[in-house]
Amino acid sequence: MTTDNTRHATSPYVAAADDLLTIRDLLRFAVTEMGRANVVHGHGFPDATTEAIHLLAWFCHLPHGALSDHLDARLTRPERAGFLALLERRVVEREPVPYLTGEAWIGDFRFFVDRRVLIPRSFIGDLLLEGLSPWVPDLDAVDTALDLCTGSGCLAILMAHAFPNADVDAADLSPAAIDVAHRNVGEYGCGDRVRLVQSDLFAALAGKRYDVIVSNPPYVDAPSMAELPREFRHEPELALAAGDDGLDLVRRILAEAGDHLNPAGVLIVEIGHNRAALEAAYPDTPFTWLSTHAGDDFVFLLGRDQLPT
Ligand SMILES: C[S@@+](CC[C@H](N)C(=O)[O-])C[C@H]1O[C@@H](n2cnc3c(N)ncnc32)[C@H](O)[C@@H]1O
Repeated sequence: MTTDNTRHATSPYVAAADDLLTIRDLLRFAVTEMGRANVVHGHGFPDATTEAIHLLAWFCHLPHGALSDHLDARLTRPERAGFLALLERRVVEREPVPYLTGEAWIGDFRFFVDRRVLIPRSFIGDLLLEGLSPWVPDLDAVDTALDLCTGSGCLAILMAHAFPNADVDAADLSPAAIDVAHRNVGEYGCGDRVRLVQSDLFAALAGKRYDVIVSNPPYVDAPSMAELPREFRHEPELALAAGDDGLDLVRRILAEAGDHLNPAGVLIVEIGHNRAALEAAYPDTPFTWLSTHAGDDFVFLLGRDQLPT
């Protein structure tokens, strides 16, 4: 971690504030620095240009689309120094952009984030925005829903929007994550419909049954955890690590979900790159793989009767 004093003495990002005057200058510098340092993208941004545009637009309080109208506008010196200090954290400390800005987006939904929670990027978020058709045929008929491993509360809030008549429970083991989720639920004004529970998976939900259970649990296997890029080490380990094969949490969910689904209920779980390991572990379970923009291997759905016994 650099201090302000050491930054002044050594940082090229401090000196650059003298030379880079316009938004265009800063954008070009940001893309160059991210490329030079081989930063890893993966928190909602496919490449350096997209990240730089997002960070600069956020910093300048401009809508993304408006940045191109202001490329030749000069920033004040304090503004340039402020942006370059953020860029230094991104490139040198490898902090993901959403932790720098304090926000992450799923579609048009904005969520507050900090290092207490995983940065929202679940494929289940996109599926909820699309209405889960045809898997949940009548969104109005969903009375009860559960988001297991809720983190920032993002999927629970999206369920409250997707299922207008549902009461939604949202559970997480981490009290710090529950605090962040409370803030997001408050910002969306849905505290009357989303109940946050500190719970080790289903432990605090005895006797409760749901029409829909979604979960984006930790699912990173041990070899991948050992090689995790620095960007992802800013996220809570509790949100990522899931044992040798990445299935520790998924196994427990599959074993216990039957006691918490209504007869026509469905379980939807994101599992990262573990489809082959999961199908090898459960050869008789008829997983339905849902299509996401990245492919069909990442999110499965099971009806209550299809769960392994
Ligand atoms: C991959 S993050 C998902 C967060 C959020 N649902 C999302 O999609 O952005 C997994 C979450 O599971 C929580 N978690 C880890 N182990 C848990 C357990 N045994 N019971 C409940 N939650 C757990 C972590 O604290 C973390 O918030």
